[in-house]
Amino acid sequence: MQKADVIVGLQWGDEGKGKIVDHLAQEYDLVCRFAGGHNAGHTIVADGKKYALHLVPSGVLNKRALNVVGNGVVLSPKDFIKELKQFEDIKGRIVISDKAHLLLPYHAKIDQARERLKGDKAIGTTGKGIGPAYGDKITRVGHRVGELLNPQKLCDDIMNYFAINKPVFDAMGVETPDAAKLLAELKEYKEALGEYITDTTLVVWDALDSGKRVLLEGAQGTMLDIDHGTYPYVTSSTTVSAGACSGLGIAPHTIGEVVGIAKAYCTRVGNGPFPSEDLGEDGNYLREKGHEFGTTTGRPRRCGWFDAVAMKHAVRLNGVSNISLMKLDVLDGLDEIKVCVGYEFEGKEIDYVPYTLDGVKPVYKTFKGWQQSKGAREYDALPQEAKEYIEALEKLCGAKIGIISTSPDRDDTIIRD
Ligand code: GDP
Ligand code: IMO
Ligand code: MG
Repeated sequence: MQKADVIVGLQWGDEGKGKIVDHLAQEYDLVCRFAGGHNAGHTIVADGKKYALHLVPSGVLNKRALNVVGNGVVLSPKDFIKELKQFEDIKGRIVISDKAHLLLPYHAKIDQARERLKGDKAIGTTGKGIGPAYGDKITRVGHRVGELLNPQKLCDDIMNYFAINKPVFDAMGVETPDAAKLLAELKEYKEALGEYITDTTLVVWDALDSGKRVLLEGAQGTMLDIDHGTYPYVTSSTTVSAGACSGLGIAPHTIGEVVGIAKAYCTRVGNGPFPSEDLGEDGNYLREKGHEFGTTTGRPRRCGWFDAVAMKHAVRLNGVSNISLMKLDVLDGLDEIKVCVGYEFEGKEIDYVPYTLDGVKPVYKTFKGWQQSKGAREYDALPQEAKEYIEALEKLCGAKIGIISTSPDRDDTIIRD
């Protein structure tokens, strides 16, 4: 039976998933998003042009691939319509699950109000409404994409929801939508998206049954997973490979290879513990050289060293068979490169990820730097020190590094096997 391959982020997001999905998409018939929403920002650089994708799967530049937005996604119709406009020939190349949940403008307002009320305990969300949209799904008061096909009923249901929750929304300063405006918006969404809405689970099953190649594109990263990440400083979805099954409606035994994406160092946006963060000169060097500013919000990303303890954990959680190591070129020119190989936790040195990373201190091993890896396309073109670094990371993380990326460009990629 044909199996579907999965790509997941192994750190705190922004590992470079977009580049690898685009690179591999040339060989796949379907590229499917299974979780997250427009909090994601996946960058692709192809033929000198840069694309920032949020909800559209990163297979979109492969004209032969069908792009699937699965049921595990929370979809903002307004943002999705805007994003689709970049691609003139999208008709017939994208489908949206009727079971994906709707993320509507009031979800963003609730997200921002909650963050404001939390003050210094704020999560540092993207403010896009992700938590409230998934919250409504789980508390069974959400609305699904399929409901857009009957705008009048959906409008009535949303107005009723606001009537019931008025005291809560008043306290947060979230206004009740104007019914006539809301109805007009929902009709616009139906007009723009109606033809793409379908049962995507059947689409994926049919593809697998007819031997087509299916790639499942994760969003965010393992350390932002709702169960396995640094809760509560996480996103609201299952970001690990297991989420691909529920987020598309396929069984675990139909998962093939799991490719994990990791930067050659580490970044995080938003608040929460980050043991290997470097608040000094090296952190600044990585931020400037790596252009570490968010694709979705433009916020500076916090930067630090590769965390091999968290990576070993992520490899096991996701069942990673192969790692793609990204942005190796950003380390070019450093005399020394540190890797976090252990944690100091409650007075002991440990080599696993505990219940909380609060107060955990990194134990580092130092590697010798190198001058230039940028643009390398063959493993043997890399400096010896870079090869030693890569091979040491493989041992520390317990997985093979099969792909190495040496610039944002699609072609500056080393395939080792
Ligand atoms: P994603 O969310 O995992 O898809 O990653 P983002 O697109 O948010 O962030 C990764 C950034 O790194 C993007 O700006 C990419 O163009 C860039 N990038 C990807 N691979 C490389 C690489 O090997 N070297 C450099 N210098 N930049 C890269
Ligand atoms: P991609 O797919 C990096 C982070 C936010 C915040 C936390 C919760 O591009 O890797 P949310 O808006 O989801 O409720 O915010 O999660 N976050 C990301 N960080 N990359 C992402 O996506 C992210 N999506 C959410 O910064 O800390
Ligand atoms: Mg990103």
